[in-house]
Amino acid sequence: MRIRSFAKINLGLEIAGLRPDGYHEIETLFQTVDLGDDLEVLPAGDGRICLEGDDASIPWDRTNLIFKAAEALRAETGTALGARIRVTKRIPAGRGLGGGSSNAAAALIALNGVWGLGLGPDRLKRLVTGLGSDTAYFLHGGLCLGRGRGELLTELDDPAPAFFVIGWPDYGVSTPAAFAAWKPSLTSPHKASKIKRFLEDGDFRHLENDLEATVAAGHPEIGRLKRSFLESGAALALMSGSGSAVFGLFADREKALAVKAMPVQNVTLVLTRTLTRKEYRNATGAGASPSW
Ligand code: C5P
Repeated sequence: MRIRSFAKINLGLEIAGLRPDGYHEIETLFQTVDLGDDLEVLPAGDGRICLEGDDASIPWDRTNLIFKAAEALRAETGTALGARIRVTKRIPAGRGLGGGSSNAAAALIALNGVWGLGLGPDRLKRLVTGLGSDTAYFLHGGLCLGRGRGELLTELDDPAPAFFVIGWPDYGVSTPAAFAAWKPSLTSPHKASKIKRFLEDGDFRHLENDLEATVAAGHPEIGRLKRSFLESGAALALMSGSGSAVFGLFADREKALAVKAMPVQNVTLVLTRTLTRKEYRNATGAGASPSW
């Protein structure tokens, strides 16, 4: 079985504060884009999970979220079946694009199918949430509001189609380090939600990423990319998640294509577009169960 595993960007990320469990209480808008990996998942009778991928910067061992997803599914159901999983990567790791989380959710959906387990949405959601804060989003796709750690999701209507030039420098950023560097003083706990304002009036200029300033302070490429997107006419330019990727939003494809062709040293630029929830579900099988 082949399954697509798409990237997300965060159209805004607000931090309300540190929680007693060490995580941060956030509000964010997730949006899937048409940058995606491919997973080939085959069942195996020998009980072994064999995982391989074509990106040498990623560990394809027990620490990989795909492996953890398979183990969680086996522990939940008691199945002794194994699997061969081969991943073709296009989403870079450590850039705030959700590649690892997306792969974990895709692996769960695929293994649920090829192992014939028939787990419904509630059990899949519980399993996937145990693997990370933004993993549950990948059972939905499209535009979603994320609250709590990012796992409490509300599906929103697809926005008007838009194009995103996504740029990432040749290094990643650690998510725990990015959150740990955030200072409460940088954000008033009582400020009105900018995401809420955006959802009311559709003005992208409200949106901010509360992790951006501290991460960008140590990584000048992030600020440079953001400025060049804005100077090129982007309606919105933000770091995605905990970085290091930055995206520029353009309504016009030709404009986005011209921006993607800009020569920027040590940065990879790709052109993507919004992926609707329906497109996401058709390509991944998320939500395919009749009881979803
Ligand atoms: O949940 P996940 O493993 O993706 O999170 C990685 C790390 O990012 C957490 O261990 C935590 O340090 C930080 N984090 C956070 N608040 C969130 C999400 C992640 O502090 N809402």
